[in-house]
Amino acid sequence: MRETIKPHGGRLINREVQGNEKLTLKEKAQEFKKLKLCKRELADLEMIAIGAYSPLEGFMGKADYQKVLREKRLVNGLPWTIPIILSVSEEKAEELSEGENIALLDSQEEIVGILHLEEKYQVSIEEELIEVFRTVDYKHPGVKSVYQRGSIYLGGKISFLKRQFDPLFTHYRLDPHETRKIFKERGWKTVVGFQTRNPIHRAHEYIQKSALEIVDGLFIQPLVGETKEDDIPAEVRMKCYQVLIENYYPKERVVLGVLPTAMRYAGPREAVFHALVRKNYGCTHFIVGRDHAGVGHYYGPFDAHYIFEEFKPEELGITPLFFDNAFYCRRCGNMTTSKTCPHHEEDHLLLSGTKVRELLQKGEMLPPEFTRPEVAEVLRAWANSKTKTGVSV
Ligand code: ADX
Repeated sequence: MRETIKPHGGRLINREVQGNEKLTLKEKAQEFKKLKLCKRELADLEMIAIGAYSPLEGFMGKADYQKVLREKRLVNGLPWTIPIILSVSEEKAEELSEGENIALLDSQEEIVGILHLEEKYQVSIEEELIEVFRTVDYKHPGVKSVYQRGSIYLGGKISFLKRQFDPLFTHYRLDPHETRKIFKERGWKTVVGFQTRNPIHRAHEYIQKSALEIVDGLFIQPLVGETKEDDIPAEVRMKCYQVLIENYYPKERVVLGVLPTAMRYAGPREAVFHALVRKNYGCTHFIVGRDHAGVGHYYGPFDAHYIFEEFKPEELGITPLFFDNAFYCRRCGNMTTSKTCPHHEEDHLLLSGTKVRELLQKGEMLPPEFTRPEVAEVLRAWANSKTKTGVSV
C-alpha cells in the first residue's frame, strides 16, 4: 500500500502518556503546582498531543515564538506561522520555576496534562498582534482574545493525560494517525483538505468538488473549537455537512471529521497554519479560497493566497489549491467564478453574511442558488428555535 504524505518535520508527534504510566503520573501530579487552562489552551494541548501540530512537542519557547513572529518559521527552519503558546499573569509566573513540572487543569480542575516548564519569558503583545494579525484593533476577534491573555509565556514539552470529552462529535473526532489510516485503506494517493467555520453554502461545495475532480479524496474538516460569538454553532454546521454529503456527494470519496482547535481569524498566516495542520492529518492538497480565515476587512480577499509565495513548495510539502471568489451566475445557470464567467455583476447572486442573517431572522428559506434546500432547512430550523426564545441569530 502507498505511504501517506509525511507529517510536518517528518514524524507524527504523540505526547499522550500510555497505560499504567498515565495513572502513576496523574497521581504524582497531585503534588505539582497547578495551572488552569482556558478553552483555547486546552484545545492546543490536545492538538500538540495527537500530532496535529507536529513537529511541536509542547508550547513554544522564546526562540521559536520570536522566529515564528518575525520569519514565519521555527528555529529548525520549518515554516510555521501561528504562535502556539501558554500565557500566565506576572503574579502566576512568579510562583512557577523553570525546570519544574506543572499540572495542567481543565475547567473542572481535573489534571489533563503536564507542562515540563523549560522557560518563562516576557513578550510584547503589540509586536505579536502586528506580526500575526496586522492590526491592534480590539474589534478584531483574534486580537481581542490576545489582549485578554497574560504577557508572560511558558514554554516546554507537554505530557498529555486526558482528552476533553465532547459528546457531540465523538464519531467525527479522528486523530491524524486515524485519518492517515483511513486515507491509506481507501487507496487515496491524493487527498484535499477543507477548512471551514461557516455553514456550507454552494460556493464551498463548488470549490470542494472542483478540487475533487483532480484528487482522489476529500477531507472536510470543520473547525469546532472556539469561534467568535456570532458564528453559527458547530453542531448546526456539522448537521449541514451531514445532510449535504448524504444528498449531494459521492460518499466513498469523502471523509468528514472535526478540527477541535480555536479559530484565530489571522487570515493569511492562519491559512498556512491550517494547511500544515491538514498535512499532519494526511492531506496532500489544501483549499484556500476567498478571504480564508479572514474577518471584517482586515485582509485583502486574496492575501491568504499570496503568503504561500513566501515558502518553497517542498518546504510546505502540502500543495495549496487556490480558488477565486465563487458565486451563482443566473446567465450561466450554475456556480462559477470570474475566471470562467463572462457575465456582469447584475447576473451574479451575492449574499452577504448580514443578508443571510436577515433572511434567517425572518424565518425565510435561503435561496437554492445560495444553499441546497436540505441545508437551508437545517439553518431555518435552528434560526426558528433561536428566535422563539427571543435570541437573534
Ligand atoms: S474560514 O474562516 O474557515 O476560512 P469559511 O468557512 O467561510 O471561513 O471558508 C472556508 C473555505 O472556503 C476558505 O478556504 C474560504 O476561503 C473559502 N470560501 C468561502 N466562501 C467562498 C467563496 N464565495 N468563494 C471562494 N472561496 C470561498
